[in-house]
Amino acid sequence: MTQATTSLTKLLFEPYKLKNLTLKNRIVMAPMTRRQSPDGVPGQNVAEYYARRAAGNTGLIISEGSFVDDSASGAIWEPTVPRLYGEAALAGWKNVINKVHAAGGLMFPQLWHLGIKPDSDGVNPRPEDSCGPSSISTDGTNIGEEPSLKRLEESNQAYVRTACNIKELGFDGLELHGAHGYFLDQFFWEKTNKRTDKYGGTIGERARFVAEVVKAVRKEVGNDFPLILRISQWKLNAYEVKNAHNPAELEAWVTPLAEAGVDMFHCSTRRFWLPEFEGSDLNLAGWVKKITSVPTITVGSVTTNQEFGSKEKSAEDGITFHDLEKRLERKEFDLVAVGRALISNPDWASLVEQNKVNDLKTFDMKMLGELN
Ligand SMILES: Cc1cc2nc3c(=O)[nH]c(=O)nc-3n(C[C@H](O)[C@H](O)[C@H](O)COP(=O)(O)O)c2cc1C
Repeated sequence: MTQATTSLTKLLFEPYKLKNLTLKNRIVMAPMTRRQSPDGVPGQNVAEYYARRAAGNTGLIISEGSFVDDSASGAIWEPTVPRLYGEAALAGWKNVINKVHAAGGLMFPQLWHLGIKPDSDGVNPRPEDSCGPSSISTDGTNIGEEPSLKRLEESNQAYVRTACNIKELGFDGLELHGAHGYFLDQFFWEKTNKRTDKYGGTIGERARFVAEVVKAVRKEVGNDFPLILRISQWKLNAYEVKNAHNPAELEAWVTPLAEAGVDMFHCSTRRFWLPEFEGSDLNLAGWVKKITSVPTITVGSVTTNQEFGSKEKSAEDGITFHDLEKRLERKEFDLVAVGRALISNPDWASLVEQNKVNDLKTFDMKMLGELN
């Protein structure tokens, strides 16, 4: 690995103000599913796992994707993914946020709804519970029936209830998972959204349902509570897909979301340094910020040479502080999320700040078996 110098990473360690929160630096722990919460209840091990990242100087922690209600698939398919509802799970989360705060951290839970699940997953015992915008699953199969407007309104309300729970528990803000081909992203994606009512149509029209969720959550939590929306072009197992094929489509997609009250877009890419469209070196976070003037988080292969979902190692070594610093300097984006490198290094931020990048441990899939 290349040795970075402290001066190359200076801007990463500048404080940042998000509404009335002050982040001690620009480093965000990316949301990462860990499946270590039996019956959806995060235990002491989960609290300590996040507290270690807080103690390691991470500016902001985003939790693993956590379910908003049973129809988001919590109870049925994924019993070890945490839930953000129900007395036992909420008591577990209260312990998590207390531990993170005691270690000097800030934390937003990520609100997750799987949406329609492919039959090919083989984990879908009750297709009628699988709710996306249409009956078309992410693998193209037609399952179930197109949900009624009433059912979609119930999902919207699940986000609102969850947001209320989160605020009451004392979390510092929240992130809506609108990326990677799950429920909210299924509205954006033309392959899974075939609706002919107000929620379907052009990319701008396909943003309407999510904009309504953002507005409803915003109304619930008030103007001071920070709300991040995570979006991506890529989908799980469909990495080349794009919701927006050019800047004009991106503008049509994100403008209504910004107007609905998003405080920050978390733009999920697998390598942050890759340009989103031809003719500019701006990445997705750069384009979204340029179009909306809303602050953004970038992510993707910071200090790892294997992009998410790939078995291949890239020729680039992933220690890209020089590029990161250049982009931070020109304010292309505001914050930088780190995923797998923060699983292998709870103290990633401290090590980088002390210029000890050679001490960083390489992420290995085997590490997912335990919460270290
Ligand atoms: C084990 C694992 C679980 C993940 N779970 C989530 C998740 O729950 N929500 C989400 O938005 N992204 C999830 N991601 C994607 C990460 O947030 C991040 O965008 C991705 O790992 C790229 O960042 P990295 O290259 O720094 O690892 C997950 C990634 C990994 C490796």
